[in-house]
Amino acid sequence: MIPEHSPLSPEQRISLDELVSGFSIFQRAWVAGYLSAEKSHSAVEAKAPSIATQLTVLYGSESGNCEKLADLSAKEAKRRGFKATVKNMAEITPTDLTKIDNLLVIVSTWGDGDAPEAAISFHKQLMSDSLQLPKMRYSVCALGDTAYAKFCEIGKQVDARLEKFGATRVSPRQDCDLDYEEPHQAWLDHALKALNAGSSSLSTNSVSPEIDPTATEFGKKKPFPGELLERVLLNGKGTSKETWHYEISLEGSGLTYEPGDALAVIPLNAPDVIAGILQASKLSGTEHVEIKDRGTKILADALREDLEITALSRAFLTKLQATTQSSKLAALLADDAKDKLKDYLWGRWISDALFDFAGKGLSAVELVGLLRKLPPRLYSIASSPRAHPGEVHLTVASVRYHAHGVDRKGVASTYLADLVKQGDAVAVYTHSNKNFRLPAAAETPIIMVGPGTGVAPFRAFIEHRASLEKKGKSWLFFGDQRYTYDFLYQVEWQEHLACGALTKLDVAFSRDQPEKIYVQHRMLEKSQELYAWLQEGAHFYVCGDASRMAHDVHEALISIVEKEGKLSRQDAEAYVEELKKAKRYQRDVY
Ligand SMILES: Cc1cc2nc3c(=O)[nH]c(=O)nc-3n(C[C@H](O)[C@H](O)[C@H](O)COP(=O)(O)OP(=O)(O)OC[C@H]3O[C@@H](n4cnc5c(N)ncnc54)[C@H](O)[C@@H]3O)c2cc1C
Ligand SMILES: NC(=O)c1ccc[n+]([C@@H]2O[C@H](COP(=O)([O-])OP(=O)(O)OC[C@H]3O[C@@H](n4cnc5c(N)ncnc54)[C@H](OP(=O)(O)O)[C@@H]3O)[C@@H](O)[C@H]2O)c1
Ligand SMILES: Cc1cc2nc3c(=O)[nH]c(=O)nc-3n(C[C@H](O)[C@H](O)[C@H](O)COP(=O)(O)O)c2cc1C
Repeated sequence: MIPEHSPLSPEQRISLDELVSGFSIFQRAWVAGYLSAEKSHSAVEAKAPSIATQLTVLYGSESGNCEKLADLSAKEAKRRGFKATVKNMAEITPTDLTKIDNLLVIVSTWGDGDAPEAAISFHKQLMSDSLQLPKMRYSVCALGDTAYAKFCEIGKQVDARLEKFGATRVSPRQDCDLDYEEPHQAWLDHALKALNAGSSSLSTNSVSPEIDPTATEFGKKKPFPGELLERVLLNGKGTSKETWHYEISLEGSGLTYEPGDALAVIPLNAPDVIAGILQASKLSGTEHVEIKDRGTKILADALREDLEITALSRAFLTKLQATTQSSKLAALLADDAKDKLKDYLWGRWISDALFDFAGKGLSAVELVGLLRKLPPRLYSIASSPRAHPGEVHLTVASVRYHAHGVDRKGVASTYLADLVKQGDAVAVYTHSNKNFRLPAAAETPIIMVGPGTGVAPFRAFIEHRASLEKKGKSWLFFGDQRYTYDFLYQVEWQEHLACGALTKLDVAFSRDQPEKIYVQHRMLEKSQELYAWLQEGAHFYVCGDASRMAHDVHEALISIVEKEGKLSRQDAEAYVEELKKAKRYQRDVY
């Protein structure tokens, strides 16, 4: 019943009572949030608290996007009068949620629908624990990438789990693609207004326009045109790989970085790929189109500079079906469970789908409406700013493959390899990664496992340590296909060994003998010594391939702890989990 002391007339109270009588708790909360968002003075205003509403912003992040958004969200919540605190999923357990009344969750998805590295333990527990959260009011913002089959999977799971535990979703979940800033702001505005329902002391202003995620003049919103100073092919003649070392100037940019950070590269699409899209759409490229935040352009320029024109996803095919009404495509999309869609997506590009399902062609406006913004690519920085002030170095494997009878290539890696000449400018910005850092104390020993391009951040680590007077021991496990052609930065490692910046180097060349030898095999061979380093407090780092290598190295680490620590498998797993919690086991895998 609506209380008599509400600002409503008796008739209004009766109507409202009738209207909401069949509503669930969730529906009532949603309506409260909705009315609040509409700046309506609803009945719930009577419950204004006298002290600032406590709000927890909980994030799970791997490459830092959710962490940055959590900080921005808390800042904005404080501006509106909330008492907001930011928490990392790495640092709390699901049981801690029982103490929280108002919660905003910002979480990304990694791997193949997995939680971000630092949030794995929290997520696993959340999915298995049983909690009672009847007082909690919450909303979730999920970050992801529509190119992946399990889009925003972790955000979806967390959202469903909180609801299952009795918490009230005050505002709908927002699933964000790579272009997440605007959807996040809209979500935050709505969620804060919904949480605000009940507190007349809080401001209902929209999200502050002052919010600007760029800390320096140049940044994500305004990439820096860095000159390509140098490019060196790291593989020798006869190799089957193509790994480049690039040196890019940051002079005058104001951009800074630390070893462990990444560089975002904003690529341009290649002329032959643009030609393929135009041919498939039956367009000339001279048509004028409107691009969000960029204004009116010639279509061919928009396809080169602004739009993703290769990566094929379910999200793209769904939009294409809505535009073309193709029944063939509708059948393919409906057949998701039978893996036909997955098979179709593998190795194909957007132009293939246009040929297959948009036979009559498209208008320029239709084509642009189907395409998402061209996302930047991250590359682990391979240099220390102490060793190369004003420069940033990268180690990039060119992605080239053959599928469905056509030679294909990765956008950014081959943009750098094929289209950027020495002296040209590349649009870049630095991307901080607080989850991949050298130990605070320079004396702490470090163990680094970095096969292939995974070695990049370790070049930065060792260059940094070489510049210090006092330094702890360091041990690198490197692997690639063949010793003769693929020993990336071989001379540099030898110099670092000679001067003591690098203490030990173990290498695994997988194709120099009939059987595969990988970095984890070298780790297992040296298990006693590796465990001794860990017992001395060494930090353990892994960088490179996420799909197989990182998993196999993780398993090898557990086996080493089990054998050398004479522990059960369960205790060895707990030991490795503790290393992670203490930030002594860090991964940068992709
Ligand atoms: C934090 C982080 C750090 C990174 N650091 C580095 C680094 O130091 N060095 C580095 O080289 N990369 C690094 N990467 C990877 C890098 O960001 C890019 O993903 C990579 O260069 C590919 O981008 P691209 O634009 O060239 O390819 P895209 O245009 O993105 O194409 C890649 C896609 O092509 C398809 N594909 C590729 N090979 C095949 C195949 N054989 N068969 C069928 N389909 C295929 C897949 O769909 C794949 O997703 C890092 C990634 C992250 C997230
Ligand atoms: N998202 C992308 O599009 C993209 C782009 C570039 C790179 N990557 C990823 O990043 C990785 C790095 O590429 P890269 O060319 O520098 O090196 P890489 O392909 O990882 O190869 C480096 C070495 O690791 C070996 N290796 C293969 N499987 C392994 C395993 N399970 N455990 C340990 N070592 C293993 C390779 O051996 P063999 O080759 O003999 O098996 C090779 O000797 C790639 O594997 C790829 O997954 C992704
Ligand atoms: C190797 C890799 C795997 C990813 N896997 C997924 C995925 O399975 N589903 C998804 O929606 N997004 C996926 N993403 C996209 C990330 O969720 C997205 O980049 C997000 O903005 C990262 O946020 P964070 O920096 O806070 O971790 C993946 C990204 C990378 C680089």
